[in-house]
Order: sequence, then structure tokens, then C-alpha cells
Amino acid sequence: MQTVDLILAHATQLVTCACHNQPKRGAQMRELGLISDGALVVHDGRIVAVGKTGDLLGAYHAEQVVDLSGRVVLPGLVDCHTHVPHAGHRYDEFELRLQGKSYLDILKAGGGILNTVRATRSASATELMKQARKRLSTMLRWGTTTAELKSGYGLSTEAESKQLQAVFALDHAMTLIPTFLGAHAKPEEFASASDYLAYVLADSLPSVHALYQASDLPQQGIPMFVDIFVEEGTFTLEHMVAYFEQARQLGLPRKAHLDQFHHGGAVPVAVEMGATSVDHLEVTPPSDLDILARSETVGVMLPTVNLHLGNLHFANARHLVDADGILALATDYNPGSSPVLSLPFVMALACRVQRLLPSEALNACTVNAAHALGVLDRVGSLEVGKQADVVVLQTDDYRSLVVEMGNSLVEQVYLKGKPQWSASF
Ligand code: NIG
Ligand code: FE
Repeated sequence: MQTVDLILAHATQLVTCACHNQPKRGAQMRELGLISDGALVVHDGRIVAVGKTGDLLGAYHAEQVVDLSGRVVLPGLVDCHTHVPHAGHRYDEFELRLQGKSYLDILKAGGGILNTVRATRSASATELMKQARKRLSTMLRWGTTTAELKSGYGLSTEAESKQLQAVFALDHAMTLIPTFLGAHAKPEEFASASDYLAYVLADSLPSVHALYQASDLPQQGIPMFVDIFVEEGTFTLEHMVAYFEQARQLGLPRKAHLDQFHHGGAVPVAVEMGATSVDHLEVTPPSDLDILARSETVGVMLPTVNLHLGNLHFANARHLVDADGILALATDYNPGSSPVLSLPFVMALACRVQRLLPSEALNACTVNAAHALGVLDRVGSLEVGKQADVVVLQTDDYRSLVVEMGNSLVEQVYLKGKPQWSASF
């Protein structure tokens, strides 16, 4: 009999989200690969078997067996869109918006993103790491085990590099995916967005690419994405094309913030240029969602942004799923438009305002989110060979995770087979 490190046994519901390394579309979004009285066998941080407790307890000898009767076991959640590394806050802006100022007007007046840029530029890499770690521990407590971390608050080669190096150096047990968001907004010292983008293409992008190459991430198979905010007052569709073209030449996968406030027609172009994901999509018309649905590009929707900005026109998640597109959900954690670190809260909101079923929301925050980060081969489901990143819920029905909005049901989180957080710590 094979001896293994750990068996998580007798889970009332073991939600595997089994996907065979493929993202989920349409009716597959309702499939959770649920095993009752399920068990997960873990060795060397990886899953070596998944099945019925009765079958697996007889087949393996474990150093440790944890009885999870009365509990739900889920794959670790994947937050595929966050702006975690930053300094400063935006409480003044929050009050300005409550008094009627818009997000884009505040940015135009030199606030918003540019406020966070000033705070982030003056913070040291150590300070950025300290703040990022604090946010990551909160995310972990809510069940997130893999997260994307964007730069985009430096907006100079030096400050963007500092932000990314802070991410590279975090050395966290969570799986962290860096994204270079050099084209987030035009910094004040440049006369035009085109001038700034020319500088990004000539200087920042090659520099951060070199930093990534020199890190140990390529060896570990962790990608670094590039991202751009296409919007009135930030960057244009033409800017995106030039930026994506250079990223493609450097072999870097691509994402974009699109159609948040104004429909710019960029979704079909990003799809055509092979973007891994297009994010936001609040005002994307059904015709563009149909083009997205027929592609391999993931549509990432971020409903807490609408909630925080008081804009109740949510992205049409139902349309994308019903058209067989690949939908992911994420927090978009950032200090301005979504100071939210909890994926269960995002799922709870998406079910209520975007009419997703709990199963669809869960696949959107696991399998499809992992696909949006290019790491579905290692995380996003509980299947043999994957990292044993596991969330244990204090409930016997997975749906309570989204029905009990705002209450944390997370009892334990394992990263690579090791207990990393527990409600009883
Ligand atoms: O995804 N829309 C652009 N970027 C972020 C917000 C960044 C900020 O306001 O600091 C977003 O919403
Ligand atoms: Fe964002």
C-alpha cells in the first residue's frame, strides 16, 4: 500500500470542478464534479487521488487523515484580476463620488489612479511588499489561493519595475501571477497618451520583460502578462494594437481593461490579436459578446466595481455564458474602484445581479479564472497531478458560500498540501 502525506476524508461534498485542463463553457458551467463522502489524497504537495472515501482509505496509508464530515471541500479560489501592490488609499475620492463626481472626472483632474501613482512612487519596495502581504493574507482567509497582481501604479520604467520586483520577491505560498499594466493611465509628466505609450514601448516594456526573464518565474512556468486600460481619457484602440503587437513579439501573453464606461469596439480586436482575457465588459454590446463567446479569449467580469462606483449596469454575464463563452469573475481589488478582497462576496453579488447560478459562479472563480492566468494545468480544480490548494467550508452544502452573502464560511485553507490558514489558528 502506498504511503502518502495526507488524506482529507469524509467531505460531505467534495467539489472537484473537474475540467480535464479545459475551460468551461455553457452547460459545463453548471457541472461541479461533486463527490459525496469524498476524499482527496495528497503527497508532496500534489493531489494523487480523488474519489469516494470508502475506496481511497482502503487504497492508501496516510501519515495524517483529516475527517471533514459535515464540511464542503473546494479547490482553492483563483482571483484572476487584482491591483494588489500599491500604497495609499482613496477615501477622499470615495466621498467625492458620493457627492456626485464621476470616476473619470476625478482621474481627468489628476486624482483617481494618479493619486495612487503618487503614493506608490514614494513607497519603498519593502513597504509595497508589506502592504501586499497583508492583502494576500486577507484574500487567503476568504479562500483565494492563486492571484494575479498587476503593476500600473508606477507609470515610469523605474517605478513599474519596483512594483513588479516587489511581486517577484514576495515568495508567498500562494501562487502569484504578475501582470505589467504600464499602460494604465497617462502620468502627469507626459503631454499626451501617445507620447507616454511610445516611451512604454521603447523603454518600460523591454525593461520589465528583461526583469521577468532574469527572475525564476519562467523556469517555474509562471507567465507574466501585459495589460492596458482602453477608455476615453486613457488609451485608444490603436494604442492597444501597438502595445499588444510588441508584447506578442516579446512572447508575453496579453490582457486588456475594455468597455468599462464607454464601448470602444476593442473586444473583437483584442480577440483577433489572441488576448488571453478581456476584462470589465460592463458596456460591451451583445454582438461583441457573441464574438468573444466564439473565441478562446476569457471574458473576466468584475461586479464589485459597479457596486462600489454606484453604477448598477452590470456586465452581461448571462449572455456570455448562454452564448458558450468562457466567463471568469474576479475582485479587481484596487483602492479606487473595488476595495474588495473576497471572491465569495464577488460570487454572491454575481449570482444576485448577473443571475449566475452558484455552480456557474464557482467555476468562474476556479477553472476559468485559472485559465485566464495560464495556470489551469496546476490549479483551479481538484484533479490528480494538480497542487493540493484546498478550501474547507463550515457547511455541508456548497451553495451556502454564495447564499450567506458577506459571511465567511471558510474554515481551513491548504496550500500545496500544507495547512496555511484555519479559523481555529
Ligand atoms: O480595473 N479601470 C481601470 N483600472 C482599475 C482601477 C484602478 C484604480 O482606480 O486605481 C479597474 O477598475
Ligand atoms: Fe482592473
